[in-house]
Amino acid sequence: MSAGRFIAFEGGEGAGKSTQARLLAEGLRARGLEVVATREPGGTPGAEEIRTMLLDTRGEGWNPRAEALLFAAARSDHVERLIRPALERGAWVVCDRFLDSSRAYQGGGGGLSDAEILALHAVGSEGLLPDLTVLVEVSPKVAAQRLAARDGGVSDRIGARARDYHARVAAAFAAFAEAEPARFARIDGNASAQDTHARILSALAPLLADAP
Ligand code: TYD
Repeated sequence: MSAGRFIAFEGGEGAGKSTQARLLAEGLRARGLEVVATREPGGTPGAEEIRTMLLDTRGEGWNPRAEALLFAAARSDHVERLIRPALERGAWVVCDRFLDSSRAYQGGGGGLSDAEILALHAVGSEGLLPDLTVLVEVSPKVAAQRLAARDGGVSDRIGARARDYHARVAAAFAAFAEAEPARFARIDGNASAQDTHARILSALAPLLADAP
């Protein structure tokens, strides 16, 4: 049996990545592939509990290091219980956010070093990386319009952080994609969902060509 493929979606708030992750999962299923569609933080019961602890706007929140540890702990449970078993049985895993969100938000945004985030990932998840990370990029104006339509101006603890925090996050994502062009596909997400989906399918063509 061939090993499965691991595709992660990344991007800032309002980039449309959740819509794109869903469209891709549907598209892969239509080709007869087994697909596990999941998200971070979350994806398993334990990781969903940690998600609530991280994103709930009640209480005083976490210092940047505790926040990074909690994301890494949630990811560890998710990888161990859901992602690795799925890949081992040959399924495709489509994940809405993964490690690069921690590198961008807790690292670029929150001030931990990239080496620290990668060290937490080495301990928590034995360094598992996606085969391809789809970075969906939109202009700040389009992101603001989509967020207003989706959340009506209400955001979670991290989404509500200041504009310069989110600017650092976007810059960090772009820098990771430039540093590792083989693992990233940078996708312009400003157009319609269907246009963006078509671009993502083209970026996946080499992986799909190898699929059974
Ligand atoms: P979610 O509602 O999934 O946001 P979005 O629709 O924008 O993906 O909430 C996830 C939030 O958690 C989002 O603000 C990004 C943040 N996050 C981190 O800060 N670090 C991480 O490692 C992950 C996975 C998410």
